[in-house]
Amino acid sequence: MLTGIGLGLRFKYIEDLQQNNHAVKWLELLADHYHDINNPIIAKVQQLCAKFPCVLHAVNFSLASSGEINQNYLSSIKAIVDLCNPLWVSDHLSFSSIGDIHLHELLPFAFTETMLQHIATKIKIIQHTLKRPFLIENISSYIRIKDSQMSEAQFIARLAQQADCGILLDVNNIVVSCHNHNESIEEYCATIPFARVKQLHMAGAITKNNLLIDTHSRPIAADVMQLYRKIIEQHGYIPTCLEWDMDLPDFATISKEIEKLNGFI
Ligand SMILES: [Fe+2]
Repeated sequence: MLTGIGLGLRFKYIEDLQQNNHAVKWLELLADHYHDINNPIIAKVQQLCAKFPCVLHAVNFSLASSGEINQNYLSSIKAIVDLCNPLWVSDHLSFSSIGDIHLHELLPFAFTETMLQHIATKIKIIQHTLKRPFLIENISSYIRIKDSQMSEAQFIARLAQQADCGILLDVNNIVVSCHNHNESIEEYCATIPFARVKQLHMAGAITKNNLLIDTHSRPIAADVMQLYRKIIEQHGYIPTCLEWDMDLPDFATISKEIEKLNGFI
């Protein structure tokens, strides 16, 4: 059971997190940092995992790629699960590889009935193998694919039901995608089955040429905070994690963002 605000663990903050004078209550580990289980950093991370509850976040299941699930990747994630004992594992609703070629992006796809079945099958295999709940995360997107048969939120709702999995709702990504596609945030949120939302992500984006771009490089924007407040008021506490990946600030800045989020729960 998680309480309070969590932080996406970045190596820069390991020593700060070992101290007790901060408000971080749990950690989200980026799975793709730990594929080499002989990496000495893993011992430090394990020490932190003994102190804080943790969850595991992956970026390379590439669920929307054609073909079967990547068994090598799944085995590697299983090894990390065995080392760190996370409460759940998550990844994005996207594709990030074609065959053996990694694209290093989380890319959108058409929300079709065929894709719904395809991804649901993969999620069932993941949950069965890892023996952990799996959460699917909404990405930030910059194009919609015209062959879609339903909205992103409808797809997520149906997928979670079909695969019997959880949802990791990225509040910043909702704002980014709805802005970029001129879609309604209210409609998006009204379509999401919040009973399945087990985690929230909060992060900062930038604006460029009237597009919002999800950079994880800034403090959380005011409109994202406002949406967060509404979600918490309506649905109560949902484990919330701050993500910061670029232009990593000092720990005092991270702590300030954590304190802001604490003010809403
Ligand atoms: Fe996220």
